[in-house]
Amino acid sequence: MATGELTAHGAVPAQRATTWAGLAGRIGLQDLPARDLDSSELQELVATIASDRASWADLVAFDDERRVYASIHRDAHVDVWLLCWTPKNDTGWHDHDTSSGAVAVVTGTLTEHNLRFGGASVATTVEAGRLFSFGPDHIHRLTGTVPQSVSIHAYSPPLWRMGQYAVGGDGVLRRQSVSYADELRPITSRAEQSHDRHAVRSADDDAGARPPEEDGHVSGLTVEEADAVRSWLEHHDFEHVSKRDGESASYGDRQDVWERAGTLIRLTRDRGQWWCDLSRTGEDVWLDVDRIAAAIGSESTVPVGRVADATGSMNARVFWALSSTLDHSP
Ligand SMILES: [Fe+2]
Repeated sequence: MATGELTAHGAVPAQRATTWAGLAGRIGLQDLPARDLDSSELQELVATIASDRASWADLVAFDDERRVYASIHRDAHVDVWLLCWTPKNDTGWHDHDTSSGAVAVVTGTLTEHNLRFGGASVATTVEAGRLFSFGPDHIHRLTGTVPQSVSIHAYSPPLWRMGQYAVGGDGVLRRQSVSYADELRPITSRAEQSHDRHAVRSADDDAGARPPEEDGHVSGLTVEEADAVRSWLEHHDFEHVSKRDGESASYGDRQDVWERAGTLIRLTRDRGQWWCDLSRTGEDVWLDVDRIAAAIGSESTVPVGRVADATGSMNARVFWALSSTLDHSP
Protein backbone atom coordinates (compact mmCIF):
# COMPACT_ATOMS: atom_id res chain seq x y z
CA MET A 1 0.00 0.00 0.00
CA ALA A 2 1.45 3.33 -0.99
CA THR A 3 0.61 6.80 0.18
CA GLY A 4 1.58 10.03 -1.49
CA GLU A 5 0.76 10.98 -5.03
CA LEU A 6 3.01 8.48 -6.80
CA THR A 7 0.56 5.76 -7.72
CA ALA A 8 2.04 4.02 -10.76
CA HIS A 9 2.44 0.41 -9.69
CA GLY A 10 6.06 -0.64 -9.33
CA ALA A 11 7.44 2.88 -9.40
CA VAL A 12 9.65 2.15 -6.37
CA PRO A 13 11.30 -1.13 -5.27
CA ALA A 14 9.00 -1.81 -2.31
CA GLN A 15 5.99 -1.67 -4.63
CA ARG A 16 7.56 -4.54 -6.56
CA ALA A 17 7.97 -6.68 -3.44
CA THR A 18 7.42 -10.40 -4.00
CA THR A 19 7.16 -13.41 -1.73
CA TRP A 20 10.47 -14.90 -0.70
CA ALA A 21 9.50 -18.44 0.32
CA GLY A 22 9.93 -19.82 -3.20
CA LEU A 23 13.44 -18.34 -3.52
CA ALA A 24 14.82 -19.87 -0.32
CA GLY A 25 17.56 -22.47 -0.71
CA ARG A 26 18.92 -21.37 -4.08
CA ILE A 27 21.93 -19.49 -2.67
CA GLY A 28 23.12 -19.73 0.93
CA LEU A 29 26.20 -18.61 2.85
CA GLN A 30 27.81 -21.99 2.09
CA ASP A 31 27.68 -21.61 -1.69
CA LEU A 32 28.28 -17.93 -2.37
CA PRO A 33 29.93 -17.15 -5.72
CA ALA A 34 33.43 -15.63 -5.45
CA ARG A 35 32.24 -12.34 -6.97
CA ASP A 36 29.73 -9.62 -6.29
CA LEU A 37 26.11 -10.78 -6.34
CA ASP A 38 23.46 -9.42 -8.69
CA SER A 39 19.99 -8.39 -7.64
CA SER A 40 18.41 -11.83 -8.15
CA GLU A 41 21.17 -13.50 -6.17
CA LEU A 42 20.81 -11.02 -3.32
CA GLN A 43 17.09 -11.82 -3.22
CA GLU A 44 17.81 -15.55 -3.12
CA LEU A 45 20.38 -15.08 -0.37
CA VAL A 46 18.10 -13.07 1.95
CA ALA A 47 15.28 -15.56 1.24
CA THR A 48 17.50 -18.47 2.26
CA ILE A 49 18.66 -16.79 5.46
CA ALA A 50 15.17 -15.52 6.28
CA SER A 51 13.87 -19.08 6.10
CA ASP A 52 16.62 -20.36 8.42
CA ARG A 53 15.37 -18.80 11.65
CA ALA A 54 17.49 -21.03 13.86
CA SER A 55 20.64 -19.40 12.48
CA TRP A 56 19.75 -15.93 13.78
CA ALA A 57 16.86 -16.26 16.25
CA ASP A 58 19.10 -15.72 19.28
CA LEU A 59 20.19 -12.32 17.91
CA VAL A 60 16.67 -10.88 17.90
CA ALA A 61 15.96 -8.10 20.38
CA PHE A 62 14.02 -4.85 20.28
CA ASP A 63 14.70 -1.37 21.56
CA ASP A 64 12.75 1.81 20.82
CA GLU A 65 15.79 4.03 21.39
CA ARG A 66 18.57 1.96 19.82
CA ARG A 67 17.56 -0.07 16.80
CA VAL A 68 18.99 -3.54 17.26
CA TYR A 69 21.04 -4.98 14.39
CA ALA A 70 23.62 -7.73 14.03
CA SER A 71 26.10 -8.79 11.37
CA ILE A 72 25.33 -12.29 10.12
CA HIS A 73 28.02 -12.50 7.47
CA ARG A 74 30.62 -10.34 5.77
CA ASP A 75 33.22 -11.14 3.12
CA ALA A 76 34.81 -9.34 0.18
CA HIS A 77 31.62 -9.53 -1.92
CA VAL A 78 28.57 -9.45 0.31
CA ASP A 79 27.45 -8.54 3.82
CA VAL A 80 24.29 -9.72 5.55
CA TRP A 81 22.53 -8.12 8.49
CA LEU A 82 19.67 -8.91 10.82
CA LEU A 83 17.61 -5.83 11.73
CA CYS A 84 14.99 -5.69 14.48
CA TRP A 85 12.36 -2.97 14.43
CA THR A 86 9.87 -1.25 16.66
CA PRO A 87 7.47 1.42 15.30
CA LYS A 88 9.83 4.05 16.74
CA ASN A 89 12.87 2.84 14.79
CA ASP A 90 13.70 4.99 11.77
CA THR A 91 16.77 4.91 9.51
CA GLY A 92 16.32 8.40 8.14
CA TRP A 93 16.92 9.07 4.45
CA HIS A 94 19.99 7.31 3.13
CA ASP A 95 21.70 5.69 0.16
CA HIS A 96 24.02 2.68 0.01
CA ASP A 97 26.87 4.28 -1.95
CA THR A 98 27.98 1.68 -4.54
CA SER A 99 26.10 -1.31 -3.10
CA SER A 100 22.96 -3.03 -4.31
CA GLY A 101 20.72 -4.52 -1.63
CA ALA A 102 17.85 -6.84 -0.87
CA VAL A 103 15.51 -6.83 2.13
CA ALA A 104 13.36 -9.76 3.28
CA VAL A 105 10.77 -9.06 5.96
CA VAL A 106 10.54 -12.07 8.24
CA THR A 107 8.21 -10.90 10.99
CA GLY A 108 5.90 -7.90 11.27
CA THR A 109 5.86 -5.09 8.73
CA LEU A 110 8.31 -2.43 7.54
CA THR A 111 7.55 0.76 5.67
CA GLU A 112 9.83 1.94 2.88
CA HIS A 113 9.67 5.67 2.21
CA ASN A 114 10.82 7.26 -1.04
CA LEU A 115 11.60 10.93 -1.26
CA ARG A 116 9.95 12.99 -3.98
CA PHE A 117 10.51 16.58 -4.97
CA GLY A 118 7.32 18.48 -5.56
CA GLY A 119 5.13 16.06 -3.63
CA ALA A 120 4.71 14.02 -0.50
CA SER A 121 7.10 11.14 -0.03
CA VAL A 122 5.84 7.72 -0.99
CA ALA A 123 5.31 5.20 1.82
CA THR A 124 4.97 1.52 0.98
CA THR A 125 4.37 -1.17 3.57
CA VAL A 126 6.14 -4.49 3.12
CA GLU A 127 4.71 -7.32 5.16
CA ALA A 128 6.27 -10.49 6.52
CA GLY A 129 7.00 -13.02 3.81
CA ARG A 130 7.88 -10.45 1.16
CA LEU A 131 11.15 -9.06 -0.15
CA PHE A 132 12.38 -6.30 -2.40
CA SER A 133 15.74 -5.27 -3.86
CA PHE A 134 17.34 -2.10 -5.13
CA GLY A 135 20.44 -0.81 -6.87
CA PRO A 136 23.09 1.70 -5.83
CA ASP A 137 20.94 4.46 -7.30
CA HIS A 138 18.29 3.96 -4.62
CA ILE A 139 17.59 6.43 -1.79
CA HIS A 140 15.12 5.42 0.88
CA ARG A 141 14.11 5.49 4.50
CA LEU A 142 12.94 2.44 6.42
CA THR A 143 10.75 2.48 9.51
CA GLY A 144 9.26 -0.22 11.66
CA THR A 145 5.50 -0.37 11.25
CA VAL A 146 4.41 -2.82 13.92
CA PRO A 147 6.17 -4.01 17.11
CA GLN A 148 8.68 -6.85 16.87
CA SER A 149 9.34 -6.65 13.14
CA VAL A 150 12.42 -8.47 11.86
CA SER A 151 14.17 -8.25 8.48
CA ILE A 152 17.21 -9.72 6.76
CA HIS A 153 19.32 -7.41 4.55
CA ALA A 154 22.14 -8.28 2.13
CA TYR A 155 24.38 -5.85 0.24
CA SER A 156 26.85 -6.39 -2.59
CA PRO A 157 29.52 -5.19 -2.81
CA PRO A 158 29.58 -5.00 1.01
CA LEU A 159 28.60 -1.68 2.54
CA TRP A 160 31.56 0.55 3.40
CA ARG A 161 30.20 4.04 3.27
CA MET A 162 26.60 5.19 3.10
CA GLY A 163 25.07 8.57 2.46
CA GLN A 164 22.66 9.99 5.00
CA TYR A 165 20.49 12.95 4.09
CA ALA A 166 19.05 15.83 6.05
CA VAL A 167 17.24 19.02 5.14
CA GLY A 168 18.84 22.02 6.83
CA GLY A 169 17.01 24.98 8.29
CA ASP A 170 17.58 26.72 4.95
CA GLY A 171 15.67 23.94 3.19
CA VAL A 172 18.77 22.68 1.41
CA LEU A 173 19.27 18.91 1.16
CA ARG A 174 22.67 17.73 2.35
CA ARG A 175 24.42 14.36 2.22
CA GLN A 176 26.61 13.13 5.05
CA SER A 177 28.92 10.18 4.42
CA VAL A 178 28.76 7.66 7.26
CA SER A 179 30.43 4.33 7.96
CA TYR A 180 28.31 1.24 7.45
CA ALA A 181 29.01 0.42 11.11
CA ASP A 182 27.08 3.49 12.20
CA GLU A 183 23.45 2.92 13.01
CA LEU A 184 21.39 4.86 10.51
CA ARG A 185 18.82 7.13 12.05
CA PRO A 186 17.49 10.58 11.29
CA ILE A 187 20.46 12.92 11.54
CA THR A 188 20.64 14.64 14.91
CA SER A 189 23.85 14.56 16.87
CA ARG A 190 26.70 12.41 15.59
CA ALA A 191 28.18 12.23 19.08
CA GLU A 192 24.91 10.84 20.37
CA GLN A 193 24.80 8.24 17.59
CA SER A 194 28.36 7.16 18.31
CA HIS A 195 27.52 6.70 21.97
CA ASP A 196 24.49 4.59 21.10
CA ARG A 197 26.40 2.39 18.69
CA HIS A 198 29.00 1.47 21.24
CA ALA A 199 26.35 0.83 23.84
CA VAL A 200 24.69 -1.66 21.50
CA ARG A 201 27.93 -3.38 20.58
CA SER A 202 29.07 -3.76 24.16
CA ALA A 203 25.74 -5.17 25.29
CA ASP A 204 26.71 -8.63 24.05
CA ASP A 205 30.13 -8.71 25.68
CA ASP A 206 30.82 -11.82 27.68
CA ALA A 207 30.89 -11.25 31.42
CA GLY A 208 34.62 -11.86 31.60
CA ALA A 209 35.59 -9.85 28.53
CA ARG A 210 37.74 -6.78 28.85
CA PRO A 211 35.51 -3.69 28.69
CA PRO A 212 36.02 -1.40 25.71
CA GLU A 213 37.66 1.94 26.25
CA GLU A 214 35.64 5.13 25.92
CA ASP A 215 35.93 5.11 22.13
CA GLY A 216 34.89 1.45 21.84
CA HIS A 217 38.47 0.28 21.24
CA VAL A 218 39.53 -2.78 23.20
CA SER A 219 42.90 -2.44 24.93
CA GLY A 220 45.98 -4.61 24.36
CA LEU A 221 46.55 -8.33 24.82
CA THR A 222 47.85 -10.11 27.90
CA VAL A 223 50.86 -12.44 27.55
CA GLU A 224 48.48 -15.42 27.52
CA GLU A 225 46.26 -13.87 24.84
CA ALA A 226 49.30 -13.07 22.68
CA ASP A 227 50.46 -16.69 23.05
CA ALA A 228 47.02 -17.88 21.96
CA VAL A 229 47.11 -15.63 18.87
CA ARG A 230 50.63 -16.84 18.02
CA SER A 231 49.49 -20.46 18.28
CA TRP A 232 46.40 -19.79 16.18
CA LEU A 233 48.50 -18.16 13.43
CA GLU A 234 50.92 -21.08 13.31
CA HIS A 235 48.03 -23.55 13.02
CA HIS A 236 46.30 -21.59 10.26
CA ASP A 237 49.02 -21.47 7.59
CA PHE A 238 50.61 -18.19 8.65
CA GLU A 239 54.38 -18.12 8.16
CA HIS A 240 56.59 -16.32 10.69
CA VAL A 241 58.48 -13.88 8.46
CA SER A 242 60.30 -11.50 10.79
CA LYS A 243 61.29 -10.81 14.36
CA ARG A 244 62.65 -7.54 15.63
CA ASP A 245 64.02 -6.77 19.07
CA GLY A 246 64.92 -3.58 20.86
CA GLU A 247 65.57 -0.50 18.78
CA SER A 248 64.95 -2.27 15.46
CA ALA A 249 61.25 -2.39 16.31
CA SER A 250 59.16 0.52 15.01
CA TYR A 251 57.56 0.68 18.44
CA GLY A 252 57.69 -1.41 21.59
CA ASP A 253 60.62 -3.71 22.35
CA ARG A 254 59.70 -6.77 20.31
CA GLN A 255 57.78 -7.31 17.10
CA ASP A 256 56.88 -10.57 15.32
CA VAL A 257 55.29 -10.64 11.88
CA TRP A 258 53.42 -13.51 10.19
CA GLU A 259 52.19 -13.68 6.59
CA ARG A 260 49.51 -15.63 4.76
CA ALA A 261 48.34 -14.88 1.20
CA GLY A 262 49.48 -11.27 1.38
CA THR A 263 47.96 -10.55 4.80
CA LEU A 264 50.44 -9.62 7.53
CA ILE A 265 49.76 -9.96 11.25
CA ARG A 266 52.12 -8.21 13.68
CA LEU A 267 52.36 -8.76 17.42
CA THR A 268 54.17 -5.98 19.26
CA ARG A 269 55.22 -6.02 22.92
CA ASP A 270 55.21 -2.60 24.51
CA ARG A 271 55.73 -2.13 28.25
CA GLY A 272 54.67 -5.68 29.04
CA GLN A 273 51.48 -5.65 26.97
CA TRP A 274 50.97 -7.00 23.45
CA TRP A 275 49.23 -5.31 20.53
CA CYS A 276 48.04 -6.93 17.34
CA ASP A 277 48.05 -5.13 13.97
CA LEU A 278 47.28 -6.15 10.41
CA SER A 279 48.74 -5.00 7.10
CA ARG A 280 49.08 -6.19 3.51
CA THR A 281 52.28 -7.03 1.64
CA GLY A 282 53.60 -3.88 -0.01
CA GLU A 283 51.56 -1.53 2.18
CA ASP A 284 53.13 0.92 4.58
CA VAL A 285 50.16 1.05 6.93
CA TRP A 286 49.24 -1.04 9.97
CA LEU A 287 45.70 -1.20 11.34
CA ASP A 288 44.76 -2.37 14.81
CA VAL A 289 43.06 -5.77 14.59
CA ASP A 290 40.47 -4.80 17.20
CA ARG A 291 39.42 -1.83 15.10
CA ILE A 292 39.23 -3.97 11.95
CA ALA A 293 37.16 -6.55 13.80
CA ALA A 294 34.77 -3.86 15.00
CA ALA A 295 34.52 -2.36 11.51
CA ILE A 296 33.64 -5.66 9.86
CA GLY A 297 31.05 -6.53 12.49
CA SER A 298 32.97 -9.23 14.37
CA GLU A 299 31.21 -10.11 17.58
CA SER A 300 34.10 -12.09 19.03
CA THR A 301 35.20 -10.95 22.47
CA VAL A 302 38.54 -12.78 22.50
CA PRO A 303 41.68 -11.76 20.58
CA VAL A 304 41.98 -15.06 18.70
CA GLY A 305 38.43 -14.71 17.42
CA ARG A 306 39.01 -11.12 16.34
CA VAL A 307 42.22 -12.10 14.50
CA ALA A 308 40.35 -14.97 12.80
CA ASP A 309 37.50 -12.68 11.75
CA ALA A 310 39.82 -9.89 10.58
CA THR A 311 42.06 -12.18 8.53
CA GLY A 312 39.18 -14.28 7.22
CA SER A 313 37.59 -11.41 5.32
CA MET A 314 40.80 -9.60 4.34
CA ASN A 315 42.03 -8.86 0.85
CA ALA A 316 43.67 -5.89 -0.83
CA ARG A 317 40.37 -4.17 -1.58
CA VAL A 318 39.03 -4.59 1.95
CA PHE A 319 42.32 -3.37 3.42
CA TRP A 320 42.34 -0.33 1.18
CA ALA A 321 38.79 0.57 2.20
CA LEU A 322 39.52 0.12 5.90
CA SER A 323 42.80 2.02 5.77
CA SER A 324 40.93 5.05 4.46
CA THR A 325 38.57 5.08 7.45
CA LEU A 326 40.47 3.66 10.44
CA ASP A 327 43.26 5.22 12.45
CA HIS A 328 46.67 3.81 11.57
CA SER A 329 48.99 2.14 14.04
CA PRO A 330 52.54 3.46 14.48
FE1 LIG B 1 18.85 1.07 3.33
